[in-house]
Amino acid sequence: MAQLWGGRFTKETDKLVYNFNASISFDRKFYEQDIRGSKAHVAMLAKQGILTEEERQKITAGLDGILADVEAGKLEITSEYEDIHSFVEANLIERIGDAGKKLHTGRSRNDQVALDMKLYVRDEIDEIDGELKKLLMALQAIMEEHIHTYMPGFTHLQKAQPVTLAHHVGAYFEMFRRDRSRLFDIRRRMNTCPLGAGALAGTTYPLDRAYTAELLGFDEPTRNSMDSVSDRDYVIELLSALSTVMMHLSRFSEEIIIWNSNEYRFVEIDDAYSTGSSIMPQKKNPDIAELVRGKTGRVYGALTSILTTMKGLPLAYNKDMQEDKELTFDAIDTVKGCLALFTGMVSTMQFRKENMEASAKNGFTNATDAADYLVNHGVPFRDAHGIVGQLVLTCIEKGISLDELPLEEYKAVSPVFEEDIYEAISMRTCVEKRITYGAPGPDVMEQVIAANKEYLENN
Ligand code: ARG
Repeated sequence: MAQLWGGRFTKETDKLVYNFNASISFDRKFYEQDIRGSKAHVAMLAKQGILTEEERQKITAGLDGILADVEAGKLEITSEYEDIHSFVEANLIERIGDAGKKLHTGRSRNDQVALDMKLYVRDEIDEIDGELKKLLMALQAIMEEHIHTYMPGFTHLQKAQPVTLAHHVGAYFEMFRRDRSRLFDIRRRMNTCPLGAGALAGTTYPLDRAYTAELLGFDEPTRNSMDSVSDRDYVIELLSALSTVMMHLSRFSEEIIIWNSNEYRFVEIDDAYSTGSSIMPQKKNPDIAELVRGKTGRVYGALTSILTTMKGLPLAYNKDMQEDKELTFDAIDTVKGCLALFTGMVSTMQFRKENMEASAKNGFTNATDAADYLVNHGVPFRDAHGIVGQLVLTCIEKGISLDELPLEEYKAVSPVFEEDIYEAISMRTCVEKRITYGAPGPDVMEQVIAANKEYLENN
């Protein structure tokens, strides 16, 4: 049990208490960030004349050695230390002697952990952003290929009007693009350096906080030391943004599960991304999509948990805040894993174009267009709606689509119909006529795809 604070205590900590209090089992994850922060801190201390240049060099070399040994697997981060900060400091002193004892000058674990967590979150935001970009590129590739792949668009999960696969996938492109922009906002807002806030009230040493901030890539130091050590807003914002990413992934997963079902057969998930059944030989299950949908719950859970942890905390630091880590780490790893797998799954998935188009036709998705045909020939829309409703009923009785209904049947309900009705209600026409910006019509779709391309090139 290696502790940094034994001085005022006369008794050993109870073993259970020690274990309950310790955070090494999870804060070991940010050993690199902890060392990076310490190096910046000593560089600043030396610049301010609080440490000598020789001490700075010794400490920095010692810290570099610890980092290298941990990464090479030569130095293990064990539960013999209370937390990652104690681990690094104890190892430093062991390596370089007394100079190591000066590392913590003008610093508290409160501002140290606030810094480590920010550095970690910031690094992970960049990684998640990279995964989101890969997903967007996969979606863009599908969109480019499927401008003329017709499928039913749904409302209430009932076939509504024809769209294209490019258009449907384009909706998800927008969602994941917003997710990136949310992460960007969070990163910008959180990019202030808490180091130098001390335990809560700053320090008596002449620290140059702006210098440390700059060394660590922050825009500026935080403005209030009490807020610095007790702010976890950025964790909450991150978990909220990650919950939204998961919500998007989960909705898309749900659609893929439906599309992959025996009834729909719009897609075929690649063998590499499906699993079988131990008893039913015919089965090929969309487990990856189901797991992504399922894991959404634990990310929402992390958000609810941290919001609840923070709600009653008085200023400034309280140990409750140690609870910010495990769930955040888990949520980050979950999201990164889900994004990577999901990207792999969608980019290897086969789209069954014929089934999609047949489904659009069989679902009367062109009924609105048949009514529009009448309107274009002078029939008031409300009458046209009724006429086409009658035709749909006839088709249902006969078990056929509007495309298959003979012209006599059309004419029997309204003499306005001519042979060109079939062209007017073809999937191609229905989609091509949807020319408003943002609609599935091929010209406007091309414009959006070009805009997406430019966005991906510049962001
Ligand atoms: N393990 C602690 C945390 O995660 C580090 C800060 C401890 N500070 C303290 N005064 N006990 O929040």
